[in-house]
Amino acid sequence: MQVKSDNRNYSEIECDALVLSIFEGEKPESGLLAEIDKHTGSVISSVIENGEFSGKTGESVYIHTTGDLKARRLLLLGAGKAEEFTTEGVRRMAGTAARSLRSRKTRTFAFLRRSKLEIGASAQAATEGALLALFDPDKYHTSDKTENTLELMILAAQEGDASELNRGIERGRIIAESTNFGREVINEPGNVVTPTVLAKHAESVAKEFGLEIDVLDEARMRELGMGALLGVAQGSVEPPKMIVMTYKAQTASQETVAIVGKGITFDTGGISIKPSDGMEKMKYDMAGGATTIAAMRAIAQIKPGINVIGIIPTTENMPGGKAQRPGDVVTSMAGKTIEVINTDAEGRLILCDALTYARRLGATRIVDLATLTGAVSIALGDVYVAILGNNQEWIDAIIAAGNRVGEKLWQLPLTPEYREQIKSEIADIKNVGGRKAGTITAAYFLREFVDDVPWAHLDIAGTAWNETGKPYLAVGPSGVCVRTLVDLVCN
Ligand code: BES
Ligand code: ZN
Ligand code: ZN
Repeated sequence: MQVKSDNRNYSEIECDALVLSIFEGEKPESGLLAEIDKHTGSVISSVIENGEFSGKTGESVYIHTTGDLKARRLLLLGAGKAEEFTTEGVRRMAGTAARSLRSRKTRTFAFLRRSKLEIGASAQAATEGALLALFDPDKYHTSDKTENTLELMILAAQEGDASELNRGIERGRIIAESTNFGREVINEPGNVVTPTVLAKHAESVAKEFGLEIDVLDEARMRELGMGALLGVAQGSVEPPKMIVMTYKAQTASQETVAIVGKGITFDTGGISIKPSDGMEKMKYDMAGGATTIAAMRAIAQIKPGINVIGIIPTTENMPGGKAQRPGDVVTSMAGKTIEVINTDAEGRLILCDALTYARRLGATRIVDLATLTGAVSIALGDVYVAILGNNQEWIDAIIAAGNRVGEKLWQLPLTPEYREQIKSEIADIKNVGGRKAGTITAAYFLREFVDDVPWAHLDIAGTAWNETGKPYLAVGPSGVCVRTLVDLVCN
């Protein structure tokens, strides 16, 4: 779907449908609402008066109009309380409109500006909302898809700076397309996206958008001493990779942010094998890695003023004949020895070597993201991403970026008391810390590998996959954190 701006009066815009967000309790007494009401034989007043529509979030009414508008249909959406409305509301409204109109025979629609939010930011949010909403995860159905496709969304705003509006659309398009690219990769099954294929995706993104890329193979990882990652990989016949994508700021910058994403293309648990029930979901254990590639795809186009490296350690976690055993001791690239108590706690094992490599490459700040623990869903459900780290300023910056783009992050503590739980009898550290505070002990393990570099860890195991569809979102990979990461490095 294309997105364009149009500064003409809504009545002159040629399209199949007009979309109008209405706030709770709002009546068509003046302005745009009153005008449209007048042109449509008072349909807005009548749905409000007969109680069919009150502007609450989630409400919608679809009307065929007679009147003298060029558009023959009107979609009214409840926008909730005006004083609580943010760009996240715009994102949700545009997404709801796109999904609802796609299921009807609509091809083009105009989304009318209703809020007083800054025009660029709200154009960006509307573009993101609509494009993210149209993501379609059912790639492998072979029967004819009769689903209607939307061709054009027009952002109609008569007032305001048109160049800001167009810049917002452009940025929204870059971010949404990159997020959807990441979601497609996450959605692929483990037999399709292997570590080699994940690296191929990263290579084609790098080529298309002008990033440097280096894909380390097993031999180079062995030279570098990445024993923790290689220990996980040895149970699989698929060769592991360490993908490194580099964006260089156009004017020299002292700051290099490393984004590190877990890329387990399938997590069986290894010898500590997972129960078969639900194991198919473990194809999304590379969501952190795909999100990193998606963020780099957007960053390459937006071109922020700081250097960014995306690092994706990627392998399968399989229980092959050469697989590592519970009790094995491996030596990480940092030189620390690790007792592998549970081979299913593999994410931290591949990430620790990637974190060491990030420091080797000169990262001045690090953020990693990973579907690391089932425990995070127990703590925060599917609502908040857990954030933990060693530097409050850096954590606060990431939470603030999340707030700006409508992604929720909640900080968990990471104080030295938890170090006790990952003490090993025979090695420097062990890879599990028992049943208590699983998300925290996993993060504590990672913390041991970053020293004093400002670092934050995002556990996305609870949020990277939408279990239930929403009016504005499909079931499946959510693409969570692409927006946060892009906002973080671009602002
Ligand atoms: N990939 C899983 C975590 C996960 C669980 C992601 C559910 C998404 C949904 C991770 O590798 C894992 O297995 N973690 C274990 C750690 C435990 C063995 C300490 C877990 O959370 O059970
Ligand atoms: Zn696991
Ligand atoms: Zn895993």
